[in-house]
Amino acid sequence: MLNGKRILLIVAGGIAAFKSLELIRRLRERGASVRCVLTASGARFVTPLSLQALSEDRVYSDMFSLTDESEMGHIQLSRDADLLVVAPATANILARMAAGLADDLAATVLLATDKPVLAAPAMNVRMWTHAATVANVETLKKRGVTFIGPNDGAMACNEHGPGRMSEPEEIVAAIEAMLTQNRPLAGKRALVTAGPTREAIDPVRYISNHSSGKQGQAIASALARLGADVTLVSGPVALADPPGLRVVHVESADQMLAACLAAGAVDVAVCAAAVADWKSGRPAAAKIKKKQGAAPPALELAPNPDILATLSKPGAKRPALVVGFAAETENLVANALDKRKRKGCDWIVANDVSPATGTFGGERNTVHLISDKGVEDWPTMPKEEVAVRLAERIAGHLGRTRPAAAAE
Ligand code: C5P
Repeated sequence: MLNGKRILLIVAGGIAAFKSLELIRRLRERGASVRCVLTASGARFVTPLSLQALSEDRVYSDMFSLTDESEMGHIQLSRDADLLVVAPATANILARMAAGLADDLAATVLLATDKPVLAAPAMNVRMWTHAATVANVETLKKRGVTFIGPNDGAMACNEHGPGRMSEPEEIVAAIEAMLTQNRPLAGKRALVTAGPTREAIDPVRYISNHSSGKQGQAIASALARLGADVTLVSGPVALADPPGLRVVHVESADQMLAACLAAGAVDVAVCAAAVADWKSGRPAAAKIKKKQGAAPPALELAPNPDILATLSKPGAKRPALVVGFAAETENLVANALDKRKRKGCDWIVANDVSPATGTFGGERNTVHLISDKGVEDWPTMPKEEVAVRLAERIAGHLGRTRPAAAAE
């Protein structure tokens, strides 16, 4: 059942829009409330009046309507929803989503949302298999959009193949799966660190490293998708904030530690950040000047706090599970086993970051999961998949522990 769940249904312009009427009926039968956003081309296939009658709510379509904005701004439309469903998701709206356009109300809501999004594609088979659509779908999946369908079969354009929108009952089942099941981390709190840290030498220079933050972000998103309340503490990265979680931006290791401690009690901490081991011992308040003929200045280093070791310290506030990363260029597993002991964390995800692997900044990762059960070698896979696997393992482990609040 979907009792009390709020669905924002975005109806784009495809012949399958007629199925969205049935979708609204079925969602409401299962206890959900449905509010509709209709695109201009969607309105060529179904009328606002039909959507309004079935949803028993007004239909939103105009971004620049004063009444719409004063009654329900585009940000509020997404805030008031538990899930956004794009059905039918045409090739055009998928392209606009992938490009991050905000050229009508539907696209703007989709760009502004931090809620989960389900897309039910519907289009001609060649549009679905076109390289542009394939790339757009891949981009959107990477960003966390869930897809249902399309199905294979006869289409309105007298062709045959994948492109038919999933049936309303299939879409309802996908919605139920997203909102009610497979959220084993609901009620659990997670802290993830990601990215590099930046340690100031003077106001213009710093020490840092090549971490892109991709793996850490993917883990934070995967945990959030399983229902966890996630705080991501991120060093400076070139990535956009992932939707659906709290992001705290920091620069230095000291700031990262402070932000982690400020996040409060959590059930799981995943330290994926590449924290600089050292900072300048005496950062200069003003830019260090080059002096003609003088020797280069000596850089005196001081150790940074070890965030992973700090979070791993035994005590009532220790997370039930602390996961560290070991980025090594040689003796990967032996060094990681040693690191697990030294830092006091429960698991270590060991990854080879020697330049030949292309792990830093790349899309794929080869990792070994080191736990009390020994060493597991995982095959090379996209960072997103490493994240999903790790999140599932975390969910399995936390299913057997008390929530953080009870440990306080
Ligand atoms: O000691 P090393 O940097 O190799 O350890 C890596 C692991 O420790 C990672 O999980 C990293 O996030 C964490 N770490 C930390 N604080 C530091 C150094 C590393 O949390 N100062």
